[in-house]
Amino acid sequence: MRKKITVDAEKCVHCGMCIKDCVLGIIAFDGNDIPHYTPGGEKQCVGCQHCMAICPSGALSFGDKNAQDSSPVGLGNSADLLQLIKSRRSYRFYKNEDVPADKLQQLIAMLPFIPTGGNADNLHFSIVATKEKMEAIRATTYSAILKLQQLSKFQMAAKNAYTEGKDIIYRGAPSLVAVAIDKEKTIEGCETADPIIALSYFELYAQSLGLGTVWCDMALTIANQLPEVYALLEIPSNYTLNYVMLFGVPAIKYTRTIQPEMFAVKLLR
Ligand SMILES: Cc1cc2nc3c(=O)[nH]c(=O)nc-3n(C[C@H](O)[C@H](O)[C@H](O)COP(=O)(O)O)c2cc1C
Repeated sequence: MRKKITVDAEKCVHCGMCIKDCVLGIIAFDGNDIPHYTPGGEKQCVGCQHCMAICPSGALSFGDKNAQDSSPVGLGNSADLLQLIKSRRSYRFYKNEDVPADKLQQLIAMLPFIPTGGNADNLHFSIVATKEKMEAIRATTYSAILKLQQLSKFQMAAKNAYTEGKDIIYRGAPSLVAVAIDKEKTIEGCETADPIIALSYFELYAQSLGLGTVWCDMALTIANQLPEVYALLEIPSNYTLNYVMLFGVPAIKYTRTIQPEMFAVKLLR
């Protein structure tokens, strides 16, 4: 993406909102009250596109992104969103079928809207799209575990369950998403937050599409312990695996929400 603002002088209403909302303060009026980058601004620009998003008249476009091609802002219905949050569950039973291609495409199309610190282009998503590929990961995992001479407590539990026909690592899921991060491109302090935020968005949107998901500490641990499994995730060498989420078409259906205990909350005034 070319980071460059272009302003249609005819449409500009000279409100200065793009200038006010620019996080880096790199937009200013020129002599004709038309917004432009301050000297050196184009290089500093992080490409958040707030200037285009806030422009009331659609005068400001960003690189090859035309303001007219953006969707209108709509915050949806808060009751629906809360219902989704309350209804979200961790799924550990999946149908033995691929995630439908259209749902996969919808999930992928959502990814660029996930926020990252400093709007960094720092994440890599390895998405296992077929049950065949997932089966290869599962087979590699368990054959490696069966060959290990010394097993950790967790590996021993996975091995014992496997010999009883249970897959407690991948829960029989047909798909997974593994998020990796390029630390060089990441704002200090956001190394953990960025990938976890990404999977939080992924989980809620996937469940709104009727898919099941489960955060998978076990799959993360096993990928980090077994190089042959890590290799199957095809994570580019400049990225480090951060977290794994399983997903697929659920084989079970929850009937009602849970009634969780409240976290510790303190209102500070
Ligand atoms: C960071 C994280 C890691 C998790 N790892 C696993 C896992 O390895 N295997 C698993 O079956 N569930 C895993 N879970 C799911 C939790 O056990 C689950 O969220 C918890 O039991 C509450 O259930 P709920 O998600 O349906 O509300 C994980 C959840 C989180 C948030």
